Amino acid sequence: MKKIVRKSLCVMLAVLLVFNLAACSKKTETTSGGTNSGTESSSENKTKTESKGKKVGVAMPTQSSQRWIQDGANIKEQLEALGYEVDLQYAEDDVQAQVSQIENLITNGADCLVIAAIDSSALVNVLAEAKKNNIPVIAYDRLLMDTDAVSYYATFDNEGVGVVIGKYIEEKMKLATAKEEGRSYNIEFFMGSPDDNNAVFLDRGVHKVLDPYLENGVLKCQSGQTTFDQTNTLRWSQETAQKRCEDILSGFYASGEHLDIVASAFDGLSYGIAAALMGAGYTPGSDDWPLITGQDAEIMAVKNIISGKQSMSIFKDTRLLAQKAVTMVQAVLEGKEPEINDTTTYNNNVLTVPSYLCTPVPVDKDNYKEVLIDSQYYTEDQLK
Ligand code: BGC
Repeated sequence: MKKIVRKSLCVMLAVLLVFNLAACSKKTETTSGGTNSGTESSSENKTKTESKGKKVGVAMPTQSSQRWIQDGANIKEQLEALGYEVDLQYAEDDVQAQVSQIENLITNGADCLVIAAIDSSALVNVLAEAKKNNIPVIAYDRLLMDTDAVSYYATFDNEGVGVVIGKYIEEKMKLATAKEEGRSYNIEFFMGSPDDNNAVFLDRGVHKVLDPYLENGVLKCQSGQTTFDQTNTLRWSQETAQKRCEDILSGFYASGEHLDIVASAFDGLSYGIAAALMGAGYTPGSDDWPLITGQDAEIMAVKNIISGKQSMSIFKDTRLLAQKAVTMVQAVLEGKEPEINDTTTYNNNVLTVPSYLCTPVPVDKDNYKEVLIDSQYYTEDQLK
C-alpha cells in the first residue's frame, strides 16, 4: 500500500516537474522573443521601466534631404516605443546651429546623445562638454572625428557604397572588355562634403574600382578633376554641384566631346547635375543621356530612375540603421550588449570606434520594386 502511495506521489511530482519545465521554456521564448508578440513580455516591461524618464537627444544635420527626415523619424519612433523621451533637432546644415542645439540638449538633461554631424570637427568642444557631464554619445551615420567622447558608431559600409557605385558603372558600361573592343568613355566625378568622413570613404571605394580604367584609358576625365580635393562638394550642395557641372560642360565639353558617365555620390548632387546637362542640350532618357549614379534612393531620385533621368541610387534602409543606433543607446544606458560588426575600420584620429556597418543596396529600374516597394519602404503611389 505504502509502495502504491509513494509511486503515485512520484508520478504526480514528475507531472508537476514537466509542467513547470514547459512553463519555464515558454517564458524563455517570450522573453527573448521580439516585440511583435502582441502581449508585452517581461523583458519589454523591464526595458520600459529602465528606459522610463531617460532622455535621448538626437541631433540631425538637415531636413533639406529626405533621408535625414526618415532617419530622425525612425530613431524617435523606435526609442519612444521603448519608453525613452526623445528631443529631435535639425540644424539645416548650419554648423553653429548644431553646436548650439547639442549645448541645449546637454543643458536640458539629456542622458544620451545620438549625433549625425554636419561638420564633426566643429563639435569637438561640445562633445568634451558631454563627456564631462557623463553623457554617452552615439555617432549616427557620420563618424565624430577627433574626439574620445564617442562610444559607438552606427553606419553603412561607406567605402562599400563607393565600391557599389563603381561596380555599377563598370558593369553597365562593360568596362572590363572595353579596351580590347576599342571603346572609351568620358567620366566626371561629383563627390561628397570634405567635412564628412563618409565622403572620403565613398570616394576611396569609387576609385578602387574605376582607377584601373582611368589608368588604361578606357575612362577619360576631360576636366582632369579626379582627386577628392578637386571633386568634393561642400555640404553635399545641389547648387554647388550644378554650378560645377555647368562649368565643366562649358569648359571641357563645348567642342564636340560627349559626357558619358557621371559618378555622383548623392541624389541631391545628381539633381543639380541633371539640370546642368539639360541646360547644355542633353535630353533625359535618350541615348545621349549619361549614366548618372546617386545615393540614398530618395523618392525624387527613384522617380528619376523610372523616367530615365538617373541610372541608379544606393538604398540605405534608415529603419535598420535606426534600429542599430537604438541598441547602442540601450547599451550605454542600460548596460546591454549592442550589436557590433566592425572594430577596426573607423578610427577618428583619437580612437577606433566600435561600429555596426549596415549593407548598402544598389537600386535601378530593374530592382526598385523588389527592393523598395516589397520591403514597404515606399508605396507604389509615392513613386508615381
Ligand atoms: C550620408 C549619405 C548622404 C549624404 C548627404 C552622408 O553622410 O552617408 O547617405 O547622402 O551624407 O546627406
